[in-house]
Amino acid sequence: MAKTKTVFFCKECGNESAKWIGHCPGCGAWNSYVEECVVVGKDSKSVKKNVMTEMKSKPILVQEISSASTPRIDTLCEELNRVLGGGLVPGSLILLGGEPGIGKSTLLLQVALNLKDKKILYVSGEESAQQIKMRAERIGIKNENCLILTETNTSEILRHFEDSRTDIVIIDSIQTLESTAVEATAGSISQIRETAAEMNKMAKSYHVPTFLIGHITKDGSIAGPKILEHIVDTVIQFEGDRHYGFRILRTVKNRFGSSSELGIFEMNANGLREVSNPSEILLSQREENVSGIAVAATLEGLRPMMIETQALVSTAAYGTPQRSCTGFDTRRLNMLLAVLEKRAGFRLATKDVFLNIAGGIRVDDPAIDLAVMAAVLSSNEDIEINNRYAFAAEVGLSGEIRSVNRVEARIAEADKLGMEKIFISKYNCRGLDTSKYNVEVVPLATIGDLIKSL
Ligand code: TYD
Ligand code: MG
Repeated sequence: MAKTKTVFFCKECGNESAKWIGHCPGCGAWNSYVEECVVVGKDSKSVKKNVMTEMKSKPILVQEISSASTPRIDTLCEELNRVLGGGLVPGSLILLGGEPGIGKSTLLLQVALNLKDKKILYVSGEESAQQIKMRAERIGIKNENCLILTETNTSEILRHFEDSRTDIVIIDSIQTLESTAVEATAGSISQIRETAAEMNKMAKSYHVPTFLIGHITKDGSIAGPKILEHIVDTVIQFEGDRHYGFRILRTVKNRFGSSSELGIFEMNANGLREVSNPSEILLSQREENVSGIAVAATLEGLRPMMIETQALVSTAAYGTPQRSCTGFDTRRLNMLLAVLEKRAGFRLATKDVFLNIAGGIRVDDPAIDLAVMAAVLSSNEDIEINNRYAFAAEVGLSGEIRSVNRVEARIAEADKLGMEKIFISKYNCRGLDTSKYNVEVVPLATIGDLIKSL
């Protein structure tokens, strides 16, 4: 006879414990244990019911594994291909994470509808078939090979897949799936762990690429995606500010390609549009020059992008000055301000400083430092910077301008967009052939040089 008992799971790593503990011995997280009901002493029948356990496997010699690399499946979506490292790998399990309402279902439905010569199984546990139809009509692409299944039971999903043998499976979302092997509610950690493992088995045994949609909240704390990340092959994240149209698809983990790639989309009234030339839209169209704006030549993955950084420096109205950033790390801004204060003698300690990266984009590239500094200086001194100047360098604690990687790509992008000057570190200039560009390359050694040249 099966009976239930309660156990505790760590939300971060999935560690199991008989009683609640405050500090996880597995991953070191604090206060991450949640209580869940599980069935113990399952009778063999209920295990048998689960189709997954019936699959057979046997060891193969490594030299006998066929190395004929199966070609990747083109998703017909340039930005998604890029993020996946050049297309879908057969048999891979891909987790698409993102906050509710960011457009995960839209993205995958659109990809599914676009792939007209592939059979696709779109499993939805969240929306009814009518709701999906409405979305498909909104996207406005006709497709005869896209099967919609509203189902949450994994054994049923497997059965339907075995009947239809589609080329791609999309699960929307992993939090709604249920497996008969565990007796917990859908969305609980033990269910997510079990159903993701079952979907992984299905993907691997039938060589079918499978997408899993997973929800996360602002602080990423909702159970699921964290422990899922270990099971799946690729984790991509859909992010963006809901008030801006832009959505960014970022690779977080990829077993089959680079994990620093980035795709950009724009949410329109009829679905997502790929943005293949981000620089042009990230530079805000402004007629005259205003102070506090500098253009950074950044690189996301292998892709150069010109991004506008905007700073506003004003006298603090209250005792403690405010430092606020959108799309940039506040601690890094504080560091740059301290460098300006200490190495260049600017009195910024009594000033409010606001920093904004245009387009609601988050930038991690250290090469944006110089542009941030230039924008702050420009706003502080109220001197405008020519909008045909670009900046690409990291700033060190002693005020030195440090070199950045792949500077040629940045210069080439600046050149392509008709920039007049690009400011880089002088250490980046060694062996650099600047004669092939129309843009003038200005080498800088310290922030003193930056101030002088502005
Ligand atoms: P959705 O894909 O449902 O988000 P998720 O699956 O990540 O929860 O997308 C939700 C938002 O996208 C919703 O606010 C409406 C908007 N949207 C558009 O702006 N245009 C469209 O064509 C579609 C289908 C959705
Ligand atoms: Mg959805």
